Amino acid sequence: MNKIIHPKINIAGNIPIPGDKSITHRAVIFGAIAKGITEIRGGLDSADCRATIACFRAMGVDFEIGENILRVEGVGLRGLKSPAGILDVGNSGTTMRLLAGLLAGAGVSAILDGDESIRARPMARIAEPLAAMGADISAIGGLAPITIHPAPQLAGIDYIMPNPSAQVKSAILLAGLNAHGFTRITEIAPGISRNHTEKMLAQFGADIDISDNIITLCPPKNLIRQNLEIPGDISAAAFFIALGILAGDLVLENIGINPTRRGIVDILAKMGGGIEIREKNTPDEGEPIADIRAFAAGRPLCPIDIAPDQTARIIDEIPILALCACFAPGASIIRGAAELRHKESDRIRAICELNKMGAKIAETPDGLEICGIQKLHGATVDSHNDHRIAMMLSIAAALADSPTTILHADCVNTSFPSFFHILDCL
Ligand code: S3P
Repeated sequence: MNKIIHPKINIAGNIPIPGDKSITHRAVIFGAIAKGITEIRGGLDSADCRATIACFRAMGVDFEIGENILRVEGVGLRGLKSPAGILDVGNSGTTMRLLAGLLAGAGVSAILDGDESIRARPMARIAEPLAAMGADISAIGGLAPITIHPAPQLAGIDYIMPNPSAQVKSAILLAGLNAHGFTRITEIAPGISRNHTEKMLAQFGADIDISDNIITLCPPKNLIRQNLEIPGDISAAAFFIALGILAGDLVLENIGINPTRRGIVDILAKMGGGIEIREKNTPDEGEPIADIRAFAAGRPLCPIDIAPDQTARIIDEIPILALCACFAPGASIIRGAAELRHKESDRIRAICELNKMGAKIAETPDGLEICGIQKLHGATVDSHNDHRIAMMLSIAAALADSPTTILHADCVNTSFPSFFHILDCL
């Protein structure tokens, strides 16, 4: 599908943001392997999360899908069945990597595969530590499909993360659930990658300790069912936060502001963007939430210099941050973000689609150099089949001075199916 977007004026209102993608995946996973029925309210209903649900259905887990509620009938830590066919993760890297970790020690045989983009993304980063734990796992050339066979009980691992990655960390912790002995993960810095897995493991009753940058998991006998409320996805909200800051006044309610995820609002505020955050009460162990107002503050944004140690916390928001930097007079730079080349597309290359609209962005091997401009003009641009690129280009189009066509725009369904409906209604 191609989408034509017209310039927007008087952008104001309340924007409904769907549930957090990372947290929804984890809620489904932990619900599926807990004892009893887990209730998930406000979870994201998107292609990626549906892929996770479909994989568990194929392994014998029952789901009841209601209006804004998902009930998962947990089968216990060792209750999954080998699926009859291939587990298709679609476009979802989180499904692929987290399920590989879980299945490595779950006593099942499975093949995990996905679309063309998934087949190009690096999988050795999980296959290697899982094999070191004793898993029978293969990913030829370090790429999907990933084949897993039952192995004798895995051994806990003491793993030093070479790079920040919540997916790798989570895969190892999920394997550690069925391992013998402790699993210990040392991250480069505390809270460098999102910590939803650790938080949710604690909620489901696992014995997990986080001291500074070291996470220690003691394998539990079982996990206990929960009632979960999923916060709004800050990575989805970021597109409308940017639109509000650049040209409007928008309010986004109940957005997750976990410190490992809120880097984007902190950076936009530092750039001088109009942002108000009204934090709400959070139950212990739960995810913190806030209402966010984003508005044009009547002053130009300041350019940014994003250092390598900042990129992991904003990894999914770099496309929309790059767009904001286009409107900051002067030179902005994003460094140490080579990981972006291994996302749903090569996002460093894909962000440069903005140049077709008049932006001045230069690619570097591990980032971007961005020169501020006055305005963007309409053009035909390609999403590279990447949901976050499609949405960033759509926000750029709303701010441009003439209509824009986004090619391959239906990929927004990966994480934010209501995105175009909301944008059209503004
Ligand atoms: C995710 C982790 C991030 C992020 C991805 C979702 C997760 O990847 O880019 O969209 O849910 O664990 P990393 O593994 O690179 O941290």
